[in-house]
Amino acid sequence: MPTLSFTHRFLPATAEGRPPLLLLHGTGGDEHDLVPLGQAVAPGSALLSPRGKVLEHGMPRFFRRLAEGVFDEADVIARANELADFVAEAREAYGLPAPVALGFSNGANIAAALLLLRPEALAGAALLRAMVPLGAPPAVDLAGKRILILSGAMDPIVPAENAGRLAGLLERSGALVRHQNLPAGHGLSQADVTIVKEWLS
Ligand code: MLT
Repeated sequence: MPTLSFTHRFLPATAEGRPPLLLLHGTGGDEHDLVPLGQAVAPGSALLSPRGKVLEHGMPRFFRRLAEGVFDEADVIARANELADFVAEAREAYGLPAPVALGFSNGANIAAALLLLRPEALAGAALLRAMVPLGAPPAVDLAGKRILILSGAMDPIVPAENAGRLAGLLERSGALVRHQNLPAGHGLSQADVTIVKEWLS
C-alpha cells in the first residue's frame, strides 16, 4: 500500500466496468469496517477505504462535532477538502476513475459535504443515515450525479426532517436523488444492503 495522506485500505477491482467505491465508515469505525459491505453490494469493484483522522474519545471520525448532530462546520469544510485531496491522490496512485461514495452515518455526512464542496471528487454517492452537513452550503452543480439516501424511520440520531432537507438540497443542486425511508433505526439493515446493491447495478 503506498503511503498516502490518509491511512487506508485499497482492494483492486476483480471485474471490469464497475466504478470504484469510496468507503466511509461511521464514528468509531476504521478502514476495515465497510469492506465486507462494499464487497457485498459491489462485487468486483475496486474499494478505497480511508480512516477518519479526527479522534473523539479515541474513536475515529471524519470531522469534529460539538455534540451529537451538532457539527463543527469549519472542521467539516477543512476535512472535506482534505478528503477530496486524498481521493485525487489515490486516483492517481491506483489509476482509478472518480469513485462512488458509500458512507454510513458520520461517513455519509462527510460524503454529503464532499458533494457540496468538492463535487468533482465523486461520481455519485450512497448515503446511509445521512444528515445535512452544513447550514449554509455554497451553490453547487451536481447535474448528472446519482445519489441514494437511505434513512431509518426509527433513527434516534437523524430526524426525518433533516434527511428530507438533505435530499431536497441535493436535488435542487441538480442531482438525481432517490430517498427512501426504511423501517430501521440508525443501524444498517438487510434492506440497506439489498437496495444499495440494486441501485449500484
Ligand atoms: C455525526 O456526528 O456525523 C452524526 O451524528 C452521526 C454519528 O456519527 O453518530
